[in-house]
Amino acid sequence: MSTSATSETPRVEVQPALHLDGLTVGYGGVPAVRELNAQVRAGEILALLGPNGAGKTTTLLAAVGALPTLSGSITALGEPLDRRVEANARRGIILVPDSRGVFHRLSVDDNLRLARRKHGPTLDDVFDYFPALRSMRARRCGTLSGGEQQMLALAKALLCAPKILLVDELSLGLSPIAVEGLLPRLRQIADDQQMAVVLVEQHIELALSIADSAVVLHHGRAVLSGAATELRGRRDMVEAAYFGNVEAPSGDRTGATLPAG
Ligand SMILES: Nc1ncnc2c1ncn2[C@@H]1O[C@H](COP(=O)(O)OP(=O)(O)O)[C@@H](O)[C@H]1O
Ligand SMILES: [Mg+2]
Repeated sequence: MSTSATSETPRVEVQPALHLDGLTVGYGGVPAVRELNAQVRAGEILALLGPNGAGKTTTLLAAVGALPTLSGSITALGEPLDRRVEANARRGIILVPDSRGVFHRLSVDDNLRLARRKHGPTLDDVFDYFPALRSMRARRCGTLSGGEQQMLALAKALLCAPKILLVDELSLGLSPIAVEGLLPRLRQIADDQQMAVVLVEQHIELALSIADSAVVLHHGRAVLSGAATELRGRRDMVEAAYFGNVEAPSGDRTGATLPAG
């Protein structure tokens, strides 16, 4: 199942799988996210960080076509994003919402069967990533722990053969141990499947440990962005941005990359 880039197959693809270009989006014509520039390539993980109300969920909703853009553009898999969520889902642009999107009254098996696609991955394919689910197939989803439900939510998303996977607060309500188990799995899946992932995550350190790049949003603006390796070494700066203490250069509010040195 592995298609990860190796030394024999150098990555030549430079086009981002998802490109947000000056994206302004909100509710009832009022922007909640302004002039956001961000991109993520196949096989890469972009961490979208920021406090409550920063605009993270809004960004993900826009990226699946659930919210109309007010200005700017979204290009997904080389084409402008469709305005219909279902059309985007068919193209492999899949959201795992923070509510997890699992049916509590149904069994694990039935949850998965409902998500299966005709020529898509099989249940066995996804059990390879989440072997614990295999032994829970007959269990009612509502009886699973939070971490197990998140595994199921990810497994359901994988059955849709995502090319762009948008994951909203995977760790909401989970124990640190459960989060530490799930995020590396997501990294492995992104590598194996060459999937572009946008990960909204409250655990900054964990997110940066598996991401390739990150954007910190505050009040709908990107106040910091950069490679995860750089940002890992600048925890002070990330936290300052998180709490809105970093001023982006005027005229380029989304380009607040790390200063040299
Ligand atoms: N359905 C909605 N209608 C109006 N405003 C909304 C709606 N959903 C979110 N907002 C507002 O948009 C802003 C960004 O919210 P959101 O994207 O959910 O933030 P985050 O996911 O970073 O916590 C907040 O000010 C929030 O109150
Ligand atoms: Mg949110």
